[in-house]
Amino acid sequence: MTTTTETGAAKTATAATVLDASGVTMRFGGLTAVRNVDLTVREGEIVGLIGPNGAGKTTFFNCLTGLYVPTEGQVSYKGTVLPPKPHLVTQAGIARTFQNIRLFSNMTVLENVLVGRHTRTKEGLWSALLRGPGFKKAEAASRERAMELLEFVGLASKAEHLARNLPYGEQRKLEIARALASDPGLLLLDEPTAGMNQSETRTTEELVFAIRDRGIAVLVIEHDMKFIFKLCDRVAVLVQGEKLVEGTAEVVQGDERVVAAYLGTPYEGAPGAAEVAEVEAAEAHAEAEAAAEATAEAAEATDDAEAEDAPADADADADADSDDAEAEADGGAPADAAPADADAADEQHSTTEGDSK
Ligand SMILES: Nc1ncnc2c1ncn2[C@@H]1O[C@H](COP(=O)(O)OP(=O)(O)OP(=O)(O)O)[C@@H](O)[C@H]1O
Ligand SMILES: [Mg+2]
Repeated sequence: MTTTTETGAAKTATAATVLDASGVTMRFGGLTAVRNVDLTVREGEIVGLIGPNGAGKTTFFNCLTGLYVPTEGQVSYKGTVLPPKPHLVTQAGIARTFQNIRLFSNMTVLENVLVGRHTRTKEGLWSALLRGPGFKKAEAASRERAMELLEFVGLASKAEHLARNLPYGEQRKLEIARALASDPGLLLLDEPTAGMNQSETRTTEELVFAIRDRGIAVLVIEHDMKFIFKLCDRVAVLVQGEKLVEGTAEVVQGDERVVAAYLGTPYEGAPGAAEVAEVEAAEAHAEAEAAAEATAEAAEATDDAEAEDAPADADADADADSDDAEAEADGGAPADAAPADADAADEQHSTTEGDSK
């Protein structure tokens, strides 16, 4: 495997455009999952797409590959507008892997790659049924090509294993081999290192560089920032369906809005900032009311206590009540924020089973 860590940013600045997505919007009922996103990928580039859980990354991939028909916008591959039909997109030259692995688990590793090859074989149904010389020749060529790809991703020795028996990391590599079998000019990878250990992740990095070195442009979604910043010539950041920033690893890493988006800290003009401000105002109001109530209760308790001539105990109760109220009021915002983050983390796991991922 040829490996290079050169980013090639300067080299690709004038290269031909492979993918041109413009104004892509995807709405599901009232939810706008992707809003007016422009993105280009040029020949020889590795471009990253990052963003918090639910930012719209997979939905954007689904729009690029014809799985979803975008509500607005269009997608071009090498200057031709793509019809939103998955097989036509694959035929045009875009291949992908899925966030939740999609292999034929009861087929062998080799057969899975052969399935990915079918868009490039000319032999039709009759030829296959009659198994004539043309079919046999084409079949031999396909097998040879599939084996070469398995070699490339490091799975040649497992060609006859059932896909379902491969460890998780190898299943992800098999998906890459299958995608490459359609001879794409652009490969879309949706979280290729999810569930991988560090050493598998490093091998996948090398694999992505090697794919680029074969002349295939790559657009990759990943949550592993080390992976993204090491690999990508350019990185686009999606937040709540909108492209927030796009640039080199340095530009993106240095942008405080990106850090804020990941930490969930709103900033001026952020998508959804108005809603966040509204929630914060409501919380502040509730906090003030709780504090006022606590003070009133404390005063009442003190009055009662004085009336019963037991000031020490009553004061302690009143203080405790008021402390509780304060603790509730103070804890309101962070306590709410914490489960939201936890949900997001959970979602990262649960969404790997999502249907359209
Ligand atoms: N088919 C669908 N119908 C309705 N809503 C959807 C559909 N697909 C995605 N969404 C919603 O669109 C938003 C974006 O989801 P998407 O899966 O694209 O996010 P993501 O950036 O890939 O997140 P993750 O990092 O968790 O994979 C989410 O709110 C999700 O619930
Ligand atoms: Mg996703």
